[in-house]
Amino acid sequence: MTKCVLVTGGAGFIGSNFIFYLLREHPENLVVCVDKLTYAGNLSTLTPVLQHPGFRFVKLDICDRDAVMKLFDQERPEAVVNFAAESHVDRSIDNPSVFLQTNVIGTSVLMDACRAYDVARFHQVSTDEVYGDLPLDRPALLFTEETPLHASSAYSASKAAADLLVMAYHRTYGLPVTISRCSNNYGPYQFPEKLIPLMIANALNDRPLPVYGQGLNVRDWLYVEDHCRAIDLILQKGRVGEVYNVGGHNEMRNIDIVRLICRELGKPESLITYVTDRKGHDLRYAINPGKIKNELGWQPQTPFGEGIRKTIQWYLANRTWWENILTGQYQRENEDICRGLGVS
Ligand code: NAD
Ligand code: DAU
Repeated sequence: MTKCVLVTGGAGFIGSNFIFYLLREHPENLVVCVDKLTYAGNLSTLTPVLQHPGFRFVKLDICDRDAVMKLFDQERPEAVVNFAAESHVDRSIDNPSVFLQTNVIGTSVLMDACRAYDVARFHQVSTDEVYGDLPLDRPALLFTEETPLHASSAYSASKAAADLLVMAYHRTYGLPVTISRCSNNYGPYQFPEKLIPLMIANALNDRPLPVYGQGLNVRDWLYVEDHCRAIDLILQKGRVGEVYNVGGHNEMRNIDIVRLICRELGKPESLITYVTDRKGHDLRYAINPGKIKNELGWQPQTPFGEGIRKTIQWYLANRTWWENILTGQYQRENEDICRGLGVS
């Protein structure tokens, strides 16, 4: 029997990769992608699946309660995977309010719809940033699922608030929920405002590579496909009411990533420009993925060296995709594709 999976934020980076993964690995599913198409939503990303019989796109704001309820009434999803979010820390420093709206209110609207329509699973895609940061000089310290929430930015505070709400809906209403908290993702279709795609795009255009502070902050990088596989496993086998940390045991300093990108592209390190540090900049993230490994058998499959080369190759081969973002052309294409689909 066809299972309807509703994926929010599917025109963004991880959501689109997850849709490709689902349609490939579970061809029996019907995938309904819900996206508001904010600046981060790019429908051209979904071109390969727009005509797929198991796929449907709906333009919708997850904060719009009436529209969400109507959609659930029509589609009767069995599972909801919530990727929709404002996701960029720097933007949350400039304008926190939209982060609270989408990341907190939007999540509660989706869960109200799940309650009203007896959805069998609500999965919240969360982040390791809810734990705050770790010191640089104690490498043995890692985030576990028991690490207290200690957010630093409006982005991470909004994600932490959403996580608390998700657990509250589970306890109060018995909503069947799961949460994954993943470390930094990289791979195809990432918006060129985030570290890796920004550095690739700037290097290819011989533009300065802006490194915050001294570039010594550490992130734990995971190839996006490994994250998608983890979410799928949690949907299939994860225990309801549980949080699963997802990370690659792959800590790297920002400056080392930027130097590696210069080397791979044959660009001079003189492009590197040290700029004013991010306000409240988290020093280090590092995940202990022991729970998902022991309970569900998940492990990352893509070593960083392989993943970063694949990613750089993808940005080289898909220059139009990111150049259209830099010129703003992608937003006109979004309108054209919506018109073609009869979506308003
Ligand atoms: P993204 O910014 O690339 O995509 C977000 C998508 O959500 C966009 O398509 C956007 O149009 C859509 N959206 C935003 N507001 C919406 C609204 N109100 N209604 C409907 N759609 C809306 O983000 P991403 O990097 O793909 O991240 C996806 C999720 O994963 C987020 O929840 C983020 O917090 C989480 N996450 C990201 C990372 C990472 O490294 N990128 C790591 C861990 C967790
Ligand atoms: O850890 C998971 C999180 O990873 C996700 O929850 C977020 O949605 C995602 O955006 C990402 O957050 P970060 O702030 O870690 O990612 P970003 O790519 O913005 O920055 C990575 C590091 O690089 C960080 O230490 C800041 C630094 N940086 C970033 C940019 C954009 C620079 O030095 N220069 C830059 O221009």
